[in-house]
Amino acid sequence: MKKIGVYTSGGDAPGMNACVRAVVRTAIFNGLEVKGIKRGYEGMISNDIINLDRQSVANIIQRGGTFLKTARSQAFMTKEGRKTAYDNINKHGIDALICIGGNGSYTGAKKFYEEHGVPCIGLPGTIDNDLYGTDFTIGYDTAINTALDAIDKIRDTAHSHERVFIVEVMGRNSGFIALDVAIAGGAEGVLIPEDHGDWNKVLNHFNNQKRRKKSFSIIVVAEGDEQGGALILEKKLTSMYPDLKIRSTILGHVQRGGSPSARDRILASRLGSEAINALLEGQKLVTVGIVCDKVVYTSFEHAIEGKKSVSESLIKLAEILSI
Ligand code: F6P
Repeated sequence: MKKIGVYTSGGDAPGMNACVRAVVRTAIFNGLEVKGIKRGYEGMISNDIINLDRQSVANIIQRGGTFLKTARSQAFMTKEGRKTAYDNINKHGIDALICIGGNGSYTGAKKFYEEHGVPCIGLPGTIDNDLYGTDFTIGYDTAINTALDAIDKIRDTAHSHERVFIVEVMGRNSGFIALDVAIAGGAEGVLIPEDHGDWNKVLNHFNNQKRRKKSFSIIVVAEGDEQGGALILEKKLTSMYPDLKIRSTILGHVQRGGSPSARDRILASRLGSEAINALLEGQKLVTVGIVCDKVVYTSFEHAIEGKKSVSESLIKLAEILSI
């Protein structure tokens, strides 16, 4: 192995730049050449591939987004698209890939390996924290701090106007972001896809006369919750409790931006460097994660199929602390 290609794929996440930097510098340290593939699989197909040296990743550790850009590629889902990508990879003499992304990106890399035999190491990059094989994903810590900062601000206005605020956070089909920011933000309720009893807990909160005397409330809802998003909930609750003053806020893509937190920079640096070690050890199709502070490899198959669960004890804690 002489030359590797690195790319970011799927939704961007703070810390992706720090991760590319670590990949590039560890590769060079070990005598490898590095190519950067722009826009993930799209760049593989359109041959948008650049040289990366030590200097090209200088001054990016603190920047959000991804300087390699990212995309969700439809073309790579076709056999023809993957063949064109392979021809381009070959032209550049790339022997192995490092993919920073989520499950969709791993699925593409697995298919690519099965058809063309190009080894790939996957690194978990998403704000959602929903990837199996790692305690935390790159971007998650920054995203929850961004969401928490917004909730603290909403709390000020909720308190002043004695209103109920429903705050919708991202997370796709998982409730990691919602549950953590609900606890950290002192929310009175949290709705996540993993907890089917959560709607009743929220209704209990409003039905309980003692609690109704509380002049304001913050309810956090995960975008993938079965009850629907913040706007739907605002309508539902307003019709059930016409005396309450209810407002909703959708935090949206603000959660994906910003300078990565120290934790995300360290996680990203560690994982980027470990991905090179994994390739040097001869790994071909694994994701690298950190579980209980130990570096672990998970086969792509298990990483894609595995389900990471939110903590039951945190669900209980959110309920206890919201009384
Ligand atoms: O996976 C990251 C994420 O931000 C999810 O939380 C969200 O559901 C989705 O991406 C939004 O995707 P897009 O930016 O393509 O609208």
